[in-house]
Amino acid sequence: MSKTLKTYSKLSTEYYDLENHINHDIALAFYIDYAKQANGLILEPMCGSGRFLIPMLQLGLQAFGFDASHYMIDAFKQNYSKISMQAPVWQSFIEDFNDNKLYKLIFIPYGSWGLIIDQVIAKQSCKIIYNHLAVGGKFVLEIETVSSVPKNCGILHKNKLKRADGSSISLTTIPTYDAQTQIFKCECRYESIINQNIVDTEFEEFKQYLYKFDEFDQILYAAGFTNIKKFQSFQKEPATDINARILIYECIKL
Ligand SMILES: C[S@@+](CC[C@H](N)C(=O)[O-])C[C@H]1O[C@@H](n2cnc3c(N)ncnc32)[C@H](O)[C@@H]1O
Repeated sequence: MSKTLKTYSKLSTEYYDLENHINHDIALAFYIDYAKQANGLILEPMCGSGRFLIPMLQLGLQAFGFDASHYMIDAFKQNYSKISMQAPVWQSFIEDFNDNKLYKLIFIPYGSWGLIIDQVIAKQSCKIIYNHLAVGGKFVLEIETVSSVPKNCGILHKNKLKRADGSSISLTTIPTYDAQTQIFKCECRYESIINQNIVDTEFEEFKQYLYKFDEFDQILYAAGFTNIKKFQSFQKEPATDINARILIYECIKL
C-alpha cells in the first residue's frame, strides 16, 4: 500500500490556502532574496500550495518543489494555472526524495520541518537535503522552538474563513503540548459550510516537533554541514536568545 500523509487533506489544504499567514510578506522577501542570489536551481521541499514558490517562478527563477500531500500539489497547480499549465512540482515525501539534480538553494520556510516528528527520519531527511545541494549551495530553513508553544493550550478555538463564492470552512481545534516529547498537537475538525449547512467534515491530528535552542545544530553537523549561520529573526539577528520562538538556519555546503 502506498504511503499517504494523514494531514493536509481536502478541507485542511483549502483552509491553509485561504488563511492569512503571519509575517508572510517579510518571510517572502527574505526567501526571494536568497532565491535571486542562488544563480542556479532552487528547490522547496514541503512547498504546499505555492505561496513562496509561485512568486519565485513569476520572477523567472528556476525553481521546483514537492510536497507529500497530493491535495497541496493540486492546489499548487490550480494557483499556478493562471501563469502556466506546467507547474514544476510533484508529490513526494522528503524522506523518499531522490533526483539527479544538484540545487544551489534548498529552502524550507514556516516551521514545516517540525512536521517530521520522528527524529530518525529528520536526520535522514537532512542528509538527503545535503546530498542534493551543489557545492557552494545553501540550505535555508526555519524551525519553531519549544518557546513557541502558544499560551492558550487546552482551550477550544473556532475560526471560519470565507471562500470566494461566499461559502465557508470552519476550523475547531484544541492545541496541546507535551514537554517530554516536545510534540505540539492539535485535534482539528474542519467543516465545509454551504448555505448554512455542513456539507463535509474532516478530522485531522496535526503534530509538530518543537526544537530546543541548540538541538537542530547537531542534526545539521551530522548531515555534513560545517558552515552554519543561525538567526532569530528575518532581519538576520544572530541567534543568541535561548528563548527565541523561531530559528532560521543558513547552511552552506562546502
Ligand atoms: C505548514 S505547510 C507549509 C507549506 C509551505 N511551505 C508554506 O509555507 O506555505 C507544511 C507542508 O508540508 C507538507 N509535508 C508534511 N510532511 C511532509 C513530508 N514528510 N514530506 C513532504 N512534505 C510534507 C504538508 O503536506 C504541507 O503542505
